[in-house]
Amino acid sequence: MPIIAIIGGQWGDEGKGKVVDFAASSADVVCRFCGGPNAGHTVVNPQGEFKMHLIPSGIFYPGAKCIIGSGVALDLDILLSEIEELRARGIDMGRLLVSSRCHIIMPYHILLDELEERERGGEALGTTKRGIGPCYVDRVARRGLKMSDLTDKQRLKTRLEFILRQENAILEKLYGAPPLDLSPLYQTYCHYGERLSPLVKDTEEVMDESLREGKKVILEGAQGTLLDIDFGTYPYVTSTSTTAGGACIGAGVSPQKLDRVVGVFKSYTTRVGNGPMPTELKDETGKIIRERASEFGTTTGRPRRCGWLDTVAARYSIRINGMDTIALTRLDILDSFPSLKVGIGYEIKGKQLDHFPPSTALLSECTPLYEELPGWQTSTTQARSFHDLPSRAQGFVEALERILACPVGLISVGPHRDQTILRDGYSFWP
Ligand code: GDP
Ligand code: IMO
Ligand code: MG
Repeated sequence: MPIIAIIGGQWGDEGKGKVVDFAASSADVVCRFCGGPNAGHTVVNPQGEFKMHLIPSGIFYPGAKCIIGSGVALDLDILLSEIEELRARGIDMGRLLVSSRCHIIMPYHILLDELEERERGGEALGTTKRGIGPCYVDRVARRGLKMSDLTDKQRLKTRLEFILRQENAILEKLYGAPPLDLSPLYQTYCHYGERLSPLVKDTEEVMDESLREGKKVILEGAQGTLLDIDFGTYPYVTSTSTTAGGACIGAGVSPQKLDRVVGVFKSYTTRVGNGPMPTELKDETGKIIRERASEFGTTTGRPRRCGWLDTVAARYSIRINGMDTIALTRLDILDSFPSLKVGIGYEIKGKQLDHFPPSTALLSECTPLYEELPGWQTSTTQARSFHDLPSRAQGFVEALERILACPVGLISVGPHRDQTILRDGYSFWP
C-alpha cells in the first residue's frame, strides 16, 4: 500500500506537474488534493505539452486512475473544458473520478475575488481571481455547495436560494454590485450536475480499496508550502492546506498511511503575486532568470518574481512537511551563470537569523545572506545520470544536500519527461 505525497516546497510552480508525470509511470492512482484552478501544472511528454489546472498530472498513463480529491475547489466550467481539451488530444478520460465532497466555485465567488482584491487596494494579495478564497470562506462558513448537492435538484434549488440571499446581500450592500438571478444559476448547475454525475464518486472509498489492494498512490500537491493557509506567508497565501498534512485531509486518507513525502524545489526561487520574498532579485540577474526560464504564470500569464534559492525557507518547508527527499527542478536554468548564490541566512536589524520567521512582517524586513558557489557554464539538458552532470553542477547539488540536510533523489534538467535524472538507487516507492 505505498502512498507518497509530492509537495511544492516554495511559492508554487516548482515543477510539480513535471515530477508527478515522471513518477506516475509506476503509479496506480494519482490524486490532486488541494487548491483549484489557481494551479497550473505543466506536463511535457511524448503526447505533447499540457497545462493542467484541475486534472491530476498522472492522466497520461492508461494504467493510472486519477482522482480529484475532496480538498480541491472545482470550477465546473473549467473542469469540463479541461476534460474536453484532453479528450480532443486523444487522452482517455474514462479514468477520472471526482470526489462528491469537493466544494464548487460559483460565479459569485469569482465576482467576490475580484471585488475583494479591488477593495484591498495597495494591500491586494495578487490572487489568480479564480474565486478560490471566497469559495473556501463559504466552506468554512458552512454555506458552500458540494458536488453531492448537484444530484438532488430540489435540494439544490432550496440550498442555492438560501445561499444566494446571503451572497447577493454581500454583493449589493458591501460592494454595490448587481445581484445574481437564481433561475439561470440553478439551470446551469443542474446541467453541470447531469454532465459530471458519471465521474462523481465516494473517492475516499476508492482510495481505501486501492490501498487495501496494495496499489501505488501519488498525492499530487498544488501551490507550495509558503502559500499554505497556516504555514505560508500569511496573508499573502492561498486558502488551502498545501502541505503533507493537507494531503491526507484533501485526499481522505489516514496520516498513518503516508510512506514518503517528496518536496519539489526549483534550483532558484520564484513567486507570483504579492508578499515578501527575501531573495528576490530586482536587478538584471532576476530579469535574466525570468527570460531564460520563461517565468510567466501558467494560469494568469503574470511575470514571476525571480531570485536565488532560499535555503532558510527550504529548510522550513522540509520540516513542516517531513520531506524525506527533494526533487530538484530547473537545474538547467543555472547552466550559463559563472557563479551562483544560495541564500543561507537572513539579517534583520543587524542580527543574524538562521530560521524562517513566523511573522510575515518580520520576513519582509529580512535581507538574505548568501553563500557563493561556482557555476558550471555547460549545458546540463542532455544529462541522464548524475555522473553526466558537470562536476560543478554535481557539487551544487551536493552543497544543497549538505545545507538542507535532505537527499536530492531526482534532478530535472528540462521540461520534458525524459530530461530527468534519478540518483543511483533512488526510487519513489519505499
Ligand atoms: P507546477 O505548477 O509546480 O507544476 O509548475 P509550472 O508548470 O507552473 O511551472 C514549471 C515550469 O517549468 C513549466 O513550464 C515546466 O514545463 C517547466 N519545467 C519543469 N521542470 C523543468 C526543468 O527541469 N527545466 C526547465 N527548463 N523547465 C522545467
Ligand atoms: P501551482 O499549483 C503559484 C498564488 C497567487 C497569489 C496567492 C493567492 O501552479 O504551483 P489564490 O488565487 O490562490 O487566492 O491566490 O497564491 N498562487 C499560486 N502561485 N502557483 C500556484 O499554483 C498558485 N496558486 C495560487 O499568485 O499570490
Ligand atoms: Mg504552476
